[in-house]
Amino acid sequence: MTDALSLVDEWGPEKIVVVSHRRTGMKGVLVIDNTARGIGKGGTRMGPGVTVDEVARLARVMTWKWAAVDLFYGGAKAGIVADPAARDKEAVLRAFARALSNEVPREYVMGLDMGLTESDAALIQDELGDRGAAVGTPEHLGGVAYDKLGVTGYGVAEAADAAARHQGLPMAGSRVALQGFGAVGSAAARRFAELGATVVAVSTAHGALHDPSGLDVDALLAARDEHGDRFVTRHSPGAVLAPGGELTVDCDILVPAALQDVIDRTTAHEIKAKLVVEGANLPTSADARSILAERGITVLPDFVANAGGVVAAAFAMDARYSGFRPDTSTIVETVSTRLRANTMTVLDAARQQRVTPHAAGRSLAEDRVRTAMHSKGRLPRG
Ligand SMILES: NC(=O)c1ccc[n+]([C@@H]2O[C@H](COP(=O)([O-])OP(=O)(O)OC[C@H]3O[C@@H](n4cnc5c(N)ncnc54)[C@H](O)[C@@H]3O)[C@@H](O)[C@H]2O)c1
Repeated sequence: MTDALSLVDEWGPEKIVVVSHRRTGMKGVLVIDNTARGIGKGGTRMGPGVTVDEVARLARVMTWKWAAVDLFYGGAKAGIVADPAARDKEAVLRAFARALSNEVPREYVMGLDMGLTESDAALIQDELGDRGAAVGTPEHLGGVAYDKLGVTGYGVAEAADAAARHQGLPMAGSRVALQGFGAVGSAAARRFAELGATVVAVSTAHGALHDPSGLDVDALLAARDEHGDRFVTRHSPGAVLAPGGELTVDCDILVPAALQDVIDRTTAHEIKAKLVVEGANLPTSADARSILAERGITVLPDFVANAGGVVAAAFAMDARYSGFRPDTSTIVETVSTRLRANTMTVLDAARQQRVTPHAAGRSLAEDRVRTAMHSKGRLPRG
């Protein structure tokens, strides 16, 4: 077991709160990593294997995500050790929220992550008697329906468009391959098609479809609505590829939007795209990134490309105490302008400093957090 104190470094965590409740068997943890730029915001996950280590790592990722996209929230995350399919989920969730009533919502606002649904967010608000306690509530309670809006995938395609321009690659006519056709992949495909790109490959856990002359995205979306992820085995035209084959097809832009660690050293040598846009979290290993950089292939980092959800979450934070429904067109517009601007900033910095976009983006985020810590007198004197 990790000693919680060993998790502390120059950035945080500022606070780790472990809570439990005997009658419901609730056990959980809140990690507030760094609040120099704003109060802690990051999803709350539920799973039988949740650990303090995992939650702390995710809280740190949130610190960099908020700073990289230049929004004023701090990194935090919470985790509940429980089976989300268990019958006593509500009692456990309510006990967890109650146990954190000192921190929520003054220092941390709960939100959705693995194992929690929109109605769970509503239960948290109810338990603490405060609309500010959680975001991620259903639309009929004034929440922002991130996945229905498809903001993350939309933002991935917008960021890809900005990155393509930066490389002198026109989006109109560019060939795009996508791994994953879920909330992120399908919304990205829709936006790529609107931007004039040709989607040549898509995949789900059930296989990949490939057509070098272009797949009909509207038909794919309709097939997915009808058959779910299995549409790839029913849809035609398009050749069915071996698993992972979509990553190495001939294309201009590759978008991993499914799992982490899918682009390793071997795949990195085989990728034919000129630009890789990380829709998923952590799809590319550090080794693979170095190989791709040597091969002149730009990788737009996850914390830049998939930040559409974070931008929408910032709107949801504002909407918590508002009597008005959040305006979805403003959210979508802001995702576009924010992600495009951020993509250019990170790619310009990478070019100037002759480092990878990951290194440039991370250093930008660190500078912003350090400056905020300095202004608030949180750094050692000297
Ligand atoms: N949903 C968001 O707002 C959001 C925000 C930021 C990052 N992400 C990240 O994006 C990724 C996708 O999230 P999502 O919300 O679209 O998930 P999802 O569950 O809606 O969809 C995942 C898709 O990936 C496919 N898939 C699974 N295994 C595969 C495999 N081996 N090969 C090819 N396809 C496979 C699934 O069939 C499905 O189509 C995850 O890494 C997630 O952490 C999501």
